[in-house]
Amino acid sequence: MQMIAIDTSNKNFYELMNIYEQAKKQLEDVLFLIKYAAKQYYGYDIISNITSRIKTPQSIVNKMKKKNYDLTYVNLINNINDIAGIRIVCPMKSDIAIIKGIIHKIPNIEILKEKDYLKQAKKSGYSAYHMIIEVPLEYEEQTIYVKVELQIRTMAMDFWATNEHKIKYKTNSKISVLDSRKLEIYAKVLNKMDEEFSDIYKKQRLEMDKYI
Ligand code: GTP
Ligand code: MG
Repeated sequence: MQMIAIDTSNKNFYELMNIYEQAKKQLEDVLFLIKYAAKQYYGYDIISNITSRIKTPQSIVNKMKKKNYDLTYVNLINNINDIAGIRIVCPMKSDIAIIKGIIHKIPNIEILKEKDYLKQAKKSGYSAYHMIIEVPLEYEEQTIYVKVELQIRTMAMDFWATNEHKIKYKTNSKISVLDSRKLEIYAKVLNKMDEEFSDIYKKQRLEMDKYI
């Protein structure tokens, strides 16, 4: 596959997408088990939902062009890390650290990269915790390693990002400086709310623990 040009209508391309699909499913299955077990342990759903997608062929090509990569399979495999993507949404900001800790303990996977947009939000206001995870997959009697992007967000972060994405990120459409600023400010407002809710919950738990 070295320098072979991508042809999204070719069966090789679909074969490759199928590999990403299988890797995504493998990791997702583990995450659903974690969701169930964590609910029993913590007494509430610390993972509200898990969604996933495979990037569309058009979106893959657009991203490679935007990043100035020649449209080859080798560039796609090495440089596009979010062909397979999983998103975990949780109720509270404090849940993210717990989920992150659990993911670090999953055997046989490798965490290649982590981006903490909680500590420092992106310029746009975007906040989340990102991981690029390598999943070992049994394929034609070999083990191959497939990258999956995992995003962990609170409901509030997800609300903001979903709507901001609709308005701005995907279309690259120009919105006014004032409107961008408003989105940034609302990201901060939501972050404040996320922090306060986590704090109130923690205080309440400590209060309850006194009586146990
Ligand atoms: P991409 O090349 O866009 O994937 O960005 P990156 O390689 O710098 O990776 P990063 O981890 O920053 O972002 C990956 C993904 O996070 C994107 O595909 C989006 O799903 C999400 N994301 C990042 N920044 C924003 C943002 O400003 N707004 C929204 N709505 N989503 C974002
Ligand atoms: Mg992406």
